[in-house]
Amino acid sequence: MKKAWWKEAVVYQIYPRSFCDSNGDGIGDLNGITSKLDYLKELGIDVIWLSPVYKSPNDDNGYDISDYEDIMTEFGTMDDFDKMLAAAHDRGIKIVMDLVVNHTSDEHPWFVESRSSKDNEKRDYYIWKEGKDGKEPTNWGSAFSGPAWKYDEKTDMYYLHLFSVKQPDLNWENPKVRKEVFDMMTRWCEKGIDGFRMDVISLISKPEGYPDAKVVGLYGDMGICANGPKVHDYLKEMNEKVLSKFDIMTVGETAGVTLEEAKKYANTDGSELNMVFQFEHMDLDGGEKFKWSTQPMPLVPLKENLSKWQKGLDGVAWNSLYFCNHDQPRIVSRLGDESDAYRELSAKCIATCLHMMQGTPYVYQGEELGMTNTVFNSVDDFRDLESINAYRELVESGLYTDEDMFPKIAHKSRDNARTPMQWDASENAGFTTGKPWIAVNPNYKKINVADQLKREDSVFHYYQKLIRLRKENEIIVYGNYELLLPEDENIFAYKRTLDNQKLLVVCNFSKSEQKFDFSGYENAKVLISNYNRDARKDGILKPYEATVLLLENA
Ligand code: NOJ
Repeated sequence: MKKAWWKEAVVYQIYPRSFCDSNGDGIGDLNGITSKLDYLKELGIDVIWLSPVYKSPNDDNGYDISDYEDIMTEFGTMDDFDKMLAAAHDRGIKIVMDLVVNHTSDEHPWFVESRSSKDNEKRDYYIWKEGKDGKEPTNWGSAFSGPAWKYDEKTDMYYLHLFSVKQPDLNWENPKVRKEVFDMMTRWCEKGIDGFRMDVISLISKPEGYPDAKVVGLYGDMGICANGPKVHDYLKEMNEKVLSKFDIMTVGETAGVTLEEAKKYANTDGSELNMVFQFEHMDLDGGEKFKWSTQPMPLVPLKENLSKWQKGLDGVAWNSLYFCNHDQPRIVSRLGDESDAYRELSAKCIATCLHMMQGTPYVYQGEELGMTNTVFNSVDDFRDLESINAYRELVESGLYTDEDMFPKIAHKSRDNARTPMQWDASENAGFTTGKPWIAVNPNYKKINVADQLKREDSVFHYYQKLIRLRKENEIIVYGNYELLLPEDENIFAYKRTLDNQKLLVVCNFSKSEQKFDFSGYENAKVLISNYNRDARKDGILKPYEATVLLLENA
């Protein structure tokens, strides 16, 4: 298999708003990030993916950009950015920027002009349509509730917004839009950044003829826009004009991606992107019509799904490995156990299972501490527009009662990932000296960086070891994958093979002891174990036990 630095790297995602506040305004910022680079160096990561730091009115916390080449006031200045980039590079850490170009903010000057009149030269930068029988042009729903079209009185037409009304979709059919985006990307690359994570890039090419979509829930499914007819042409053009000119890393956030589509986006010929984020495994604990539910993540389908991606992309594309990001609730609360007895063990078990697979692992801030979902007492505790709008819409429409909906939203809300990073046991978890923009998780005295740095057996030190092992053992990066015991409801076990080496990964995802047959691995060495023991001695896996064995000369 062709080697590449981004295949061997471990990425750490920072959600700047919630990472570290250096000036006491309650909002994390760039100087805060700079002050924590040594912490990240100690963890051992190679790349930071920075959620958007561009100028934004913050309807969707920076995913609504009003100037791609300026920094959000709350986060600092371009000078602060340059210092942060240089300080990261000094430590051998790369920085990957979030590229949000499916849409802009409605406050972006392009949109302000576009909506001003039908003959404005920027009119075609966005997607404007006439209404149909006095209604929206299609039945599509927006990802953040309500229809995906907004009527604009000024010109008596509708504009498309797959996300909030303040996030109008760019018209990628227009070559001028593509040129603006590519030129902007080039300027960032020339500044020295190390890559892009591309926000909902699978949605940029809309379906021909704008047909209605199958109704799921209250509206037509906007997923009809995923993997559209020209998306691969656009990405090839982007690759030719920008990406291929720099040694950078690219990962596409590809909602609705299938295995077959992923092979095109992340093909090994390098004509589009390096890798994609798929969503199938994250949808396994969703409700019937919406993502809102309180179900735990089911293990057998999870094994089946991740194994499908491991085998399906082997040698033909590249996987990204993730359980957490700023859009997902905390994985310990979905797949592990939050109790004091099992929180750390289950966090380590989950991490082992993911980090020993083939692909580039992503660690989301706080995941390396085993941070959990937070506690919401009322709707007023939410900050995320997705949660707030969904709650209102689904209760008002009569689909759910208030009592039914609240626990579901509390379990799945993106705000679970967005509570401040827990640095220490001091007020506000050491995140800010001011009033945090979103409440700190009440468990910060128990779960925080200061405590975990001190403790040898902490989740932090376990992640540190997993990251180091990946660097020391090529088999973890490049070996092929085979699932063992596919039907077992408690154990997630798999084998990796590279040349004459074999790696056995065994994770017990239950609270009860399980038997496991280690035959064939008598001469293997234990690479890591979350109980710090050799499970071969009794052939038993304790609750949430995870162990990895390496067999040389197999
Ligand atoms: C995906 C991002 O990860 C999410 O946070 C955002 O709300 C939407 N795209 C819209 O940009």
